[in-house]
Amino acid sequence: QDLEGFILGLPKAELHLHIEGSLEPEQMFEFARRNGVALPFASVEEVRAAYAFSNLQDFLDIYYQGARVLLTRQDFHDLAMAYFRRVAADGARHAEIFFDPQTHTERGVPFDVVADGLLAAMDQAQAELGVTSKLILCFLRHLSEDDAFATLNHADPYLDRIVGVGLDSSEVGHPPSKFEKVFAAARARGLKVVAHAGEEGPPAYVYEALDLLEVDRIDHGNRALEDAALTQRLVLEGMTLTVCPLSNLKLCVVDDLAAHPIRRMLQLGLRATVNSDDPAYFGGYLGQNWVETAKAVGLTRDELVTLARNSFTGSFLTDDEIAAHL
Ligand code: ADE
Ligand code: ZN
Repeated sequence: QDLEGFILGLPKAELHLHIEGSLEPEQMFEFARRNGVALPFASVEEVRAAYAFSNLQDFLDIYYQGARVLLTRQDFHDLAMAYFRRVAADGARHAEIFFDPQTHTERGVPFDVVADGLLAAMDQAQAELGVTSKLILCFLRHLSEDDAFATLNHADPYLDRIVGVGLDSSEVGHPPSKFEKVFAAARARGLKVVAHAGEEGPPAYVYEALDLLEVDRIDHGNRALEDAALTQRLVLEGMTLTVCPLSNLKLCVVDDLAAHPIRRMLQLGLRATVNSDDPAYFGGYLGQNWVETAKAVGLTRDELVTLARNSFTGSFLTDDEIAAHL
């Protein structure tokens, strides 16, 4: 069997996906037209040409601009359904999706509009595609902790449908310690907690995510490899890392996909997974991340099976839910 067929046939889960990052340029134009939003681009080609990033902030500037076309419950529903169809075709059985409510509430789009649209699509994806999903609310770390608290309060009526909270946006200068109190409040509500750490930020931010936020997973974690003691700790704790190879390439976290550390992570015993992050912006959904990375770094079939297993053991599915997928 060829590599691509082998990968697509492996049951797997996606654990690091920003739903706003699945907004394709074609959809951006469609939503802009139906909502009467002006875009600073004349064509889909012009949008794609703007997707040349030299770091995380370059990307975030255009990603937040793109999200301005998302206004109605239908927009969030359609956005998420398009994602679920793509990832189902890649052989995913489960997805844990991030959303950034502050990106929308800041523009006057109510929290409920966003959450109701996404949750309706999640139900439809399970019924029509057999893809299960869980929703993770991310706090924007460039905003204040007070703002994060207000967002957590907005989410209170939805807590039975939100599995956890995360931390994303501009990493350097906004360490996990800034959000210690709101993460404690989230944990007190029984939520799981994850945080982006070590994408651009130093190993110290990964330590803070572990010690101050008490995270259940680290999103990215690449720079943890610079610290041998930290790496050893992540191995011993069985901490899942949600790694995003094509994102790392596009945001210049790695110079070349062949130099990506995913294989080294597995060899070190780290519980790494492969994910797409913001597939519409970084040139590939889940399957393409797996296939291109496997080719570039020479992943063995055993290593691919390990990555697939890690995607379930690192998920927030119960053992019974995992068993139902395998
Ligand atoms: N928001 C969307 N994608 C992100 C990433 N890779 N890092 C931080 N914030 C993000
Ligand atoms: Zn991310």
